[in-house]
Amino acid sequence: MDALTPAARPAVPPAFFGEAVTWVHHWTDRLFSFRCTRDAAFRFTAGQFAMIGLMVGGKPLVRAYSMVSAPWEEELEFLSIKVQDGPLTSRLQHIRPGDVVLIGRKPTGTLLLENLLPGRTLWLFATGTGLAPFMSLIREPETYERYERVVLAHTVREVPELAYRELIGGLPDHEFLGEMVRGRLLYYPSVTRQAFPVQGRITALIESGRIFADLGLPPLSPASGDRAMLCGSEAMNADLRAMLEARGFVEGSNSSPGTYVLEKAFVTK
Ligand code: A2P
Repeated sequence: MDALTPAARPAVPPAFFGEAVTWVHHWTDRLFSFRCTRDAAFRFTAGQFAMIGLMVGGKPLVRAYSMVSAPWEEELEFLSIKVQDGPLTSRLQHIRPGDVVLIGRKPTGTLLLENLLPGRTLWLFATGTGLAPFMSLIREPETYERYERVVLAHTVREVPELAYRELIGGLPDHEFLGEMVRGRLLYYPSVTRQAFPVQGRITALIESGRIFADLGLPPLSPASGDRAMLCGSEAMNADLRAMLEARGFVEGSNSSPGTYVLEKAFVTK
């Protein structure tokens, strides 16, 4: 019997939906995206993550993955690194359309619009796969109801790791979102280890003031209505958090909204 026939698949544990992969795209040898079907009962808010993975040896092997897709989209999409000896991603990188992935039934997370006090400009700071939750937020209409302007700053090592660059660039022409996004979503990619128009870490670009000069915006200030979300490596989150707090930003949470929120880009293996 074909190993992929339903009868041959291990049963999906009750905490998960078993969904079929519909599309896989490899950006580089370190980075890929995939899409899968979405159960009608799986509801989430832009910015959240869920436990995602595979059945391995009869057991679920899962990690936290932010949804790249917007809540209104029919399918679910994720962005993942590939680590050759990583327990999950060494396997996940080989998935193909038709394979079954596990989707945890309970999405959660802190990168939520409601965890921030009302403001004027929403700054989304990502490194690497930390871009994922922001891809959902920049395609969520509520983001544009709450903010006059949205800045998406993404830093990666090499140019091909600027995933979704074309999709982001095309949003002003999007059939439903275009009018909302046009002139209000500012995309600011930067690259640290290759030649690129904007080179350097986001932290350095803030310190030097270059990002503000390039975008024609005043320096970050919570009092002028700037709000921020951070999603990157532990080191990036720590450095940027310190910089924001030195500028008067206060961390928000579900119980007490603030002027910034932070989540680490989880999967490193
Ligand atoms: P760098 O190339 O200077 O290390 P990674 O692929 O390791 O997750 O890194 C993604 C991006 O995050 C890289 O461009 C990397 O820059 C950058 N980065 C790493 N550490 C920090 C930090 N502490 N603050 C800001 N950016 C960082």
